Amino acid sequence: MAIYPEITNRAVVITGAGAGIGEAAVRAFYSQGAHVFLLDIDRKKIEDIAKDLGDRAHAIQTDITDPKAVLSAFEAIDQMGHGVDIFINCAGGYQKLLTVEKMDLEEWDQTIALNLRAAFLCCQAAIPRLKKSNAGRIINVTSISGRTVHAASSPAYGAAKAGVTQLTRFLAYELGPFGITANSIAPLTTLTPRVAALRSEEDFQRIAAQVPLGRLACVDDHVSAMLYLASDGAAFVTGVALDTNGGRVMM
Ligand SMILES: NC(=O)c1ccc[n+]([C@@H]2O[C@H](COP(=O)([O-])OP(=O)(O)OC[C@H]3O[C@@H](n4cnc5c(N)ncnc54)[C@H](O)[C@@H]3O)[C@@H](O)[C@H]2O)c1
Repeated sequence: MAIYPEITNRAVVITGAGAGIGEAAVRAFYSQGAHVFLLDIDRKKIEDIAKDLGDRAHAIQTDITDPKAVLSAFEAIDQMGHGVDIFINCAGGYQKLLTVEKMDLEEWDQTIALNLRAAFLCCQAAIPRLKKSNAGRIINVTSISGRTVHAASSPAYGAAKAGVTQLTRFLAYELGPFGITANSIAPLTTLTPRVAALRSEEDFQRIAAQVPLGRLACVDDHVSAMLYLASDGAAFVTGVALDTNGGRVMM
């Protein structure tokens, strides 16, 4: 993976840090010398990762759908005195593959809350902190499901992720005058434990066959994009939805 010396000592807050793409991002930013703040609802997972990494990793348990919990988490970060330079909103997902016709309101509301409401709450809390940085960055993780319709996904999830893409553009517009960039990345199906449990081997082969680059994504595909967007070289890139989906979005 590329080395970005400017990321050393920057303070990076990552939600969904306890598993999958978020955990991989934590490990990558830590290895670049950053201070990393791991936000996740699962205390044990983030405490284990922080312990495994070392002194620059800090686990903060929080439910990102809860406004009070989000504010407390950012206040806990304030107390550690490193500020916030980079905010990566990675927590998200869905539990059930359902059509619009079959989806119950509870599943709809929970999926919108985890993917869209939480992005709003966390970005809103991050903004005043990012304004104090001289290299402020917001990176929201969306999905190919919010960029185009591909077979059997969750309509609530796709709608929420499309909402996060547009929220990111508003953030780019509002925060540009403060030198803060806001971008999103849109992954394709990535073999994390959650996704492996949701889909069959047949699904994976079918999805890979629809990708111009001929394979599913791996976590490093997304983490490389995050590191680039966080780097000084991306200082003039804002409002972008970066398709880390092997060209699937064109099909
Ligand atoms: N894995 C994929 O195939 C894929 C594809 C496209 C987009 N994405 C997106 O990438 C992101 C990461 O996906 P993943 O599969 O790596 O995730 P994951 O399911 O492996 O991990 C998500 C983490 O978020 C945490 N979390 C869940 N609810 C939370 C809450 N309310 N508050 C705080 N933390 C909470 C979980 O404990 C878990 O550690 C998500 O936004 C997802 O929508 C993933």
